[in-house]
Amino acid sequence: MQVPSSRPGAFTVRAPASSANLGPGFDSLGLSLPLHTTVRVTPQARTEIVPLGEDLAATPADESNYIYQAMRLAARRAGQDLPPARVEIETEVPLARGLGSSAAALVAGIVAGNELLGRPLEDAGLLDVAAREEGHPDNVAPALFGGIVAATLDKLGTHYVRLDPPAHLGVTVLIPDFELSTSKARAVLPREYSRADAVHALSHAALLVAALSVGRLDLLRHAMQDYIHQVWRAPLVPGLSDILEEAHLHGALGAALSGAGPTVLCFHDTRETTARLHDYLHGVMRRNELEGRVLDLPIDTAGTVVERH
Ligand code: HSE
Repeated sequence: MQVPSSRPGAFTVRAPASSANLGPGFDSLGLSLPLHTTVRVTPQARTEIVPLGEDLAATPADESNYIYQAMRLAARRAGQDLPPARVEIETEVPLARGLGSSAAALVAGIVAGNELLGRPLEDAGLLDVAAREEGHPDNVAPALFGGIVAATLDKLGTHYVRLDPPAHLGVTVLIPDFELSTSKARAVLPREYSRADAVHALSHAALLVAALSVGRLDLLRHAMQDYIHQVWRAPLVPGLSDILEEAHLHGALGAALSGAGPTVLCFHDTRETTARLHDYLHGVMRRNELEGRVLDLPIDTAGTVVERH
């Protein structure tokens, strides 16, 4: 997280989208993407919540608003009352698509609440509040810190390591037009796994983190194999199984369901054109009668940013 030092007053918080899991890193690994939820906070005599834009038309414009509730979480952790303010909210993160829209909102709110109080919480405290609220740290950690983040959440707290993305690693996302709720996509998962599945998951997650940390882009395709969640979720996402099996034949370095879906993430080498991969993904969409868009994005490295007005 980047925070300039300056006097309290009006400020803007921008929290990025994120892609969780990256295949085998279920609930523990994610990366940050440069689509943002923005919260503008102006201290004033009474609290006013102002969601802006069509995407937030159904969002509450009162204190029950999720972002305002997140601001309160920061205040509660700090043991303080939130001072009144005008809170304007807008987002370019597609909702319920597996791109961390709720994590971006949560992190933006927690950071905004902390800022309004004069920053009583440090980075680790901000992450712990967010991870406990979300139930897993794989979206909130990259949303807060940017880059690629491996994180754990257990009774001892939240622990994380942030990696700068390796050179030449870019992301292509296929964002379908339909929404898929995380609760629905979690409900299809088994309650228990065999030891063989557990060993497969932890060995591939370990290899993936090691490959990302030393820039072994050639290993991504193999390391991103997963049997913990993608296979169970495939029936909810038309085209996913094909993309996981075939994307490498069309220029992808690896592919995964983004978070709980329905967005699908492919890695590409930024030194090469993605035209072939786009053609392939549009073909998958046509074959599956899927509406949506295909987008190339860099991995965001800034995480959540606070700007003073
Ligand atoms: N790790 C989570 C999941 C991300 O796959 O369900 C979605 O919040």
